[in-house]
Amino acid sequence: MEINGHTRLCGVIGNPVEHTLSPTIHNSLAKKQGHDLVYVPFHVEKEYLAEAIKGAYGLNILGMNVTVPYKSDVISSLRAIDASAERIGAINTLVRMEGGYKGYNTDFLGLYRAMCSEGIKLEGEKIVLLGAGGAARAAAFLCAEKGAERVYLLNRSIDKAQKLAEEVNNAFDRQCIQPMETTDYEKLPDQKMLAVQSTSVGLHPDTEKAVIEDKEFFKNIHTAYDLIYKPEETKFMRLVKEAGGEAYNGLKMLLYQGIIAYELWNQVEVSEETAKEVYELMKERVRI
Ligand code: ATR
Repeated sequence: MEINGHTRLCGVIGNPVEHTLSPTIHNSLAKKQGHDLVYVPFHVEKEYLAEAIKGAYGLNILGMNVTVPYKSDVISSLRAIDASAERIGAINTLVRMEGGYKGYNTDFLGLYRAMCSEGIKLEGEKIVLLGAGGAARAAAFLCAEKGAERVYLLNRSIDKAQKLAEEVNNAFDRQCIQPMETTDYEKLPDQKMLAVQSTSVGLHPDTEKAVIEDKEFFKNIHTAYDLIYKPEETKFMRLVKEAGGEAYNGLKMLLYQGIIAYELWNQVEVSEETAKEVYELMKERVRI
């Protein structure tokens, strides 16, 4: 594209940001939508975070994504915050408004859109959620908001699982999330469940590991959504498939969190056809 006097700028703030796939998502969306917009990574040091947000606003930057490790730290620099994002306590998208940026959590919305596109339902479901870190937060709040019957929140460190479960249960005023230690998986009810894998175990380059490896556990998983997208098929996904279940990786979550941010910045709706084209480009990039 030709950069000219009308070109708008968006970007992602993080540290590190060098391996981000977001420029692929947004620059190809801008091209396909015919928008005069460029998206770049901004490597920001912690002590400059607040100044970076202020400076971005001053420079008329249309919108920003925020990634690790600033998804919570950024909150104090916002003009407004979306209600779901506030509840989750993490922001990954800044949308320009009068006097500053409004913060959203499109990870959470993206996970939901990705699950819907795979035909995964949360309402009335019994769910095993593995992990209690940053990625698991969005999943835990999503399951509760979408009416999961019961979420067994398994984590290596039980204290983190307990804290997250308490936060979500309080936010929705019902005992939906039950914290457990991962090693206690044998105590799960003997029935088919959806699994959401949100630990970092199995992530490239340490691909020969899964958070649980016991085949007995996998017999009760009818479907799994692994938030990891590199490798394309994690060991966890492989174990689910070997036991007869269906398994999906997290690349569509990444795609849709980007698409939702793009839609918020540009006040457009991205078609499923365009989403599919961008998804193909992302798959190529991830394989490199
Ligand atoms: P992210 O932002 O990707 O969620 P994180 O906040 O550091 O990263 O969380 C990582 C998650 O993976 C946590 O649930 C972590 O468990 P702990 O809370 O016990 O640390 C989990 N995890 C990481 N390495 C693990 C391992 N080797 N075995 C089991 N769980 C692990």
